[in-house]
Amino acid sequence: MDTSPVWRATAAPSAFGPLQGDSSTEILIVGGGITGVTLALLLARQGRRVVLLEARTIGSGSTGHSTGNLYETLSQGLHGVARAWDDEVARQVVAQRRAAMAFIEGEARPPGCGFRRCALYLYATSQEQRPHISHEHIALARADAKVRMERTVPAPLPTPLGDVLVLEDQAQIQPQAYVAHVAELAARAGASVHEHARVIELDPKEKRAATATGAVKARDIVLATHTPAGFHMVQAEMTVHREYGIARDLGASDPGPGIFWCRGAENLSVRTAQAQSRHFLVCVGQSNKTGSHNAKASLMALEAVADKRFGSAPVAYRWSAQNYQSADRLPYIGRDLTGCFIATGFSTDGLVWGTVAAQVIAAQLMGQSPPFGVLCKPTRWPLKGGRAMMQEVGTMAKALVKDYLTHRQEQQLSALAPGDSAIIESDGDTCAAWRAPDGELFAVSPVCTHLGCKVHWNSVETSWDCPCHGSRFSPDGAVLEGPAIAALKRKHLKVE
Ligand SMILES: Cc1cc2nc3c(=O)[nH]c(=O)nc-3n(C[C@H](O)[C@H](O)[C@H](O)COP(=O)(O)OP(=O)(O)OC[C@H]3O[C@@H](n4cnc5c(N)ncnc54)[C@H](O)[C@@H]3O)c2cc1C
Ligand code: FES
Repeated sequence: MDTSPVWRATAAPSAFGPLQGDSSTEILIVGGGITGVTLALLLARQGRRVVLLEARTIGSGSTGHSTGNLYETLSQGLHGVARAWDDEVARQVVAQRRAAMAFIEGEARPPGCGFRRCALYLYATSQEQRPHISHEHIALARADAKVRMERTVPAPLPTPLGDVLVLEDQAQIQPQAYVAHVAELAARAGASVHEHARVIELDPKEKRAATATGAVKARDIVLATHTPAGFHMVQAEMTVHREYGIARDLGASDPGPGIFWCRGAENLSVRTAQAQSRHFLVCVGQSNKTGSHNAKASLMALEAVADKRFGSAPVAYRWSAQNYQSADRLPYIGRDLTGCFIATGFSTDGLVWGTVAAQVIAAQLMGQSPPFGVLCKPTRWPLKGGRAMMQEVGTMAKALVKDYLTHRQEQQLSALAPGDSAIIESDGDTCAAWRAPDGELFAVSPVCTHLGCKVHWNSVETSWDCPCHGSRFSPDGAVLEGPAIAALKRKHLKVE
């Protein structure tokens, strides 16, 4: 299945060359999503020497697979921050995010970036979710946001149960076009930007990173890789989910401009978008833990909800993306115990958090200590909301035990049909096998190279996904995303 999001399928491709040979620089940024390219731009404008290495192409991570919404609040609710911290921290969150949105507005001048101001509508479609709306209203009002309550939403959105919270002056972008544009601006300002430059060796002590075609030594390294590449304490403190998106022709189902969040059984995020003179309805939802759900079922459930709510229509684009959520609702931004700078724990709010992170890290690299950086430091402890962390550690331990003790199939590799996958016991060895539709067999070690959990098959994206910290691998074992740096080991097995 083609899983390109509408944004990447309709934006002009970026074109930066790979890294050639060895070099040194002041600051090395690993990762070309919104965090990495924004930081590259800010640093290059300060006259700093910057190299940015992107494993695939600019925006190919979560940024190009997001919904493109920009808002001052948080998708899980600002009141969660007020509860875990206090009203003053919630106010700082809104102020930081508002400033980051103003920065994006300033840079997103080309019309292709699709920047537009609009309102955010938040409402419940189930009784249980009604308190969420009133708590959010109180938290946003206390944080000086422009919020009010209404009773209706534009047709044909799902009917609200109770009040509709309206947050004025939020915004939307075409996320792929925007990051490609910011990468261009960074390169023009002097940053050395490289695509197809996956870091396959990272030495945080020596501050050296190597790709297949060259290496960079730097004074400082920033891991703008969504979750930091390699081993980092924060990985044990975050939950990892995949969420699904579809874009269909808008037709008569046009709710007009806006960010529409329906909280209920469906938990749907809806917006419209224009691309290549087509108008789309974009629906995002079905959040599930990475590596422990049926991806095809999640996607089908999202399509069924869209059909039920907006009438049936052919789906033009289907995709999914990953998010990492911290236990205490704030992101991790700054230098961690490895000595590298990291920026993660953005949940599904990272277009704005990534911009905030770039601003905070740019200031820290200038020797400043912005107060929001102190709040979000990756080494904060004890964590508020540590129970979620313990649940996460429990899930990881359960996944390890369950997989190693019970999850093997006594199946012949030769019995694997085209399109099928299985964890197979063969010659006393275990392998993760997938047969491509053309019959070619791919067999790799099922042991994640990050910390040794066992990977699970994702039938939508034809990948092996790790339930522990979200590393994902292609059928031939290559790293797709997550903290793993090394590929899954290829297995060369006899097929009987
Ligand atoms: C379904 C969904 C919808 C979302 N919608 C929104 C939204 O509407 N608004 C919002 O604010 N947020 C949204 N988010 C969250 C947001 O997309 C992310 O938090 C944000 O894009 C993260 O940006 P990033 O630059 O940190 O990471 P990414 O965009 O993932 O970029 C990281 C980059 O690092 C590269 N990389 C990784 N490892 C290496 C390596 N070893 N060497 C070199 N490069 C490497 C990757 O290829 C990738 O391009 C959504 C998330 C999901 C899952
Ligand atoms: S991602 Fe950490 S063990 Fe797999």
